[in-house]
Amino acid sequence: MAGGRVYTVIDGDKCNGCGLCVAVCPTGTISMKGDKAVVTGDRSLACGHCAAVCPTGAAEVTALNEKNLDFKNFSLDRRWLPPGEFDAAALVRLMASRRSCRNFKDLPVDRSLLDDLVHVAVTAPSATNSQMWTFTVLSSREALLACGEGVIGFYRRLNGLAEKAFLRKLLRMAGKRDLDLYYREYLETVKEAIADWELRKKDRLFHGATAAIVIGSRKDAMSPREDAFLAAQNILLSAHALGLGSCLIGFAVEAMRRDRRIPRSLGIPDGETVEGFVALGHPRETYRLIVGRKEFVMRCV
Ligand SMILES: Cc1cc2nc3c(=O)[nH]c(=O)nc-3n(C[C@H](O)[C@H](O)[C@H](O)COP(=O)(O)O)c2cc1C
Ligand code: SF4
Repeated sequence: MAGGRVYTVIDGDKCNGCGLCVAVCPTGTISMKGDKAVVTGDRSLACGHCAAVCPTGAAEVTALNEKNLDFKNFSLDRRWLPPGEFDAAALVRLMASRRSCRNFKDLPVDRSLLDDLVHVAVTAPSATNSQMWTFTVLSSREALLACGEGVIGFYRRLNGLAEKAFLRKLLRMAGKRDLDLYYREYLETVKEAIADWELRKKDRLFHGATAAIVIGSRKDAMSPREDAFLAAQNILLSAHALGLGSCLIGFAVEAMRRDRRIPRSLGIPDGETVEGFVALGHPRETYRLIVGRKEFVMRCV
């Protein structure tokens, strides 16, 4: 099992010997020695399950920072919520009421809200609790416009390549179909979006968002994309709860992954990957209803 440096500390004076920390530890870091828990393993996820379960406050994981759960726009009730004790209908109503916003007001997003969204993001699970994600906050419309220039420039160049029939054919013959697919599925729409951006100052890329959070990953993360999208979903849901609209912008991620100059211009170092882009702002739309979803495949065996 994966695991890293051990940050677990047990206060022997406080320990009552209940063994709960041993039972919840996923890496066997803690054992019982007589009637006391002791750290015996040399690997740990630093997940904090021991500290969360300990009835006497004897277990601590020093790598975990309690301040990461301080929020500026609401106060968190830190008592653990047992399964079944949250209103499922309220939760699903929030999930289904979140919609991708494609029409933001020209209003800035309070910096404290952006801070809170990042703090909510990191409550997500991550592979082996690695928490290798990074968050780059674009806090103004100007920052988005500057980033957008880079993204639009990337697509202008990509369109130029995709329009070359011989290049598409060559790549097809080499078994590389991405440019062909792009040509058929996206070229015309992207061309229109570029013309809107450049000639009509209409923002079909970020939909007029006035803030954004770019989710990245530090080098050598095991599941960077999965971790980033779990964090992203936290941001999307809490943005809705905090009165903001949000939209994932895959087009920006693609451009930032392929043209390092764009993330570099945001201070994202070359060692980091870009995994997700959440545009944020105050939504113009109001909806009347939660609507259904497409038919899906579900199997039960
Ligand atoms: C990986 C991913 C990338 C996306 N990229 C974009 C994008 O570039 N622009 C956009 O307007 N919406 C984007 N979306 C939003 C989807 O179009 C949207 O989630 C979908 O239409 C369902 O609508 P809803 O989010 O309102 O439920 C993206 C969503 C995902 C999951
Ligand atoms: S959960 Fe706390 S009290 Fe119980 S054995 Fe572990 S450290 Fe001791």
